[in-house]
Amino acid sequence: MQKPLEHKLALVTGASRGIGAAIAARLAREGAAVIVNYSASADKAEAVVNAIRAEGGQAEAVGADLSTLAGVAKLLAAVDGAFGGQYKGRLDILVNNAGTVDYGPFVDATDDAYDRQFNLNVRAPVALARDAAKRMIPAGWGRIINIGSAFGEAAPLPGVTLYIATKFAVRGLTKGLSRELGQYGITVNAVQPGPTDTELAPPPGSEAHATMTRLASVGRFARVDEIAAAVAYIASPEAAYTNGESLTVDGGWNA
Ligand SMILES: NC(=O)c1ccc[n+]([C@@H]2O[C@H](COP(=O)([O-])OP(=O)(O)OC[C@H]3O[C@@H](n4cnc5c(N)ncnc54)[C@H](OP(=O)(O)O)[C@@H]3O)[C@@H](O)[C@H]2O)c1
Repeated sequence: MQKPLEHKLALVTGASRGIGAAIAARLAREGAAVIVNYSASADKAEAVVNAIRAEGGQAEAVGADLSTLAGVAKLLAAVDGAFGGQYKGRLDILVNNAGTVDYGPFVDATDDAYDRQFNLNVRAPVALARDAAKRMIPAGWGRIINIGSAFGEAAPLPGVTLYIATKFAVRGLTKGLSRELGQYGITVNAVQPGPTDTELAPPPGSEAHATMTRLASVGRFARVDEIAAAVAYIASPEAAYTNGESLTVDGGWNA
């Protein structure tokens, strides 16, 4: 039986660990050939690629630091040559997942903290989506999926103001771009995770982890595969009528 994403090329940014690694594995299971982007963790990215191949899927790792425009350009150049160049520059699914957060009071936030969070969380998705759209329009099909956050629609906790601002920007990008690209058979949606057990989130046992757990009415953090499942739905051909949506997967955090 044909898998839903067979013959599709997917790019997942920040896929060496955490949510991105789970998304890469899930899209590969759905049949896509997956470019696994990472910044520093070459070994972890290679492990993700090897795990996908061990399951019979297709994956390649590409190192590129997306906090710089040179890194974005490097990653896009790699898309052209991906999997021996067999996709001839086509890109079917872009998952803008790589992101970072600084914790602390807003009054102490530095300009560097602003650059670090906005360059990776907003500027890179904008640049990648612009390039991806140009590749998807001639094909008449595409999926752009931005990983926002439950912090992209509310501010239930202090100490992450700039991060919240980046994730509201991601939500706005998702809406605006969906309006432009729907006519070409390209959907643009976001998945907004709630607290998810990864290295980005406060560690289990910390006060912040306990507070965030209390805010989720299901009483726990998400597993990364629960976020990947939402991405798989939005990437699927059967989600063609879902456009401009930001799907919050937060265990009832923001309810
Ligand atoms: N975890 C949560 O509770 C949560 C909640 C809501 C939303 N999110 C969002 O979900 C996304 C993934 O978060 P996560 O929790 O999985 O984070 P994570 O565990 O910290 O993983 C981050 C991933 O991004 C990559 N990355 C970091 N800096 C990069 C850069 N400059 N260029 C390219 N890749 C880079 C990392 O690669 P290296 O290993 O090579 O550094 C890693 O693969 C983010 O957008 C985050 O805002 C997370």
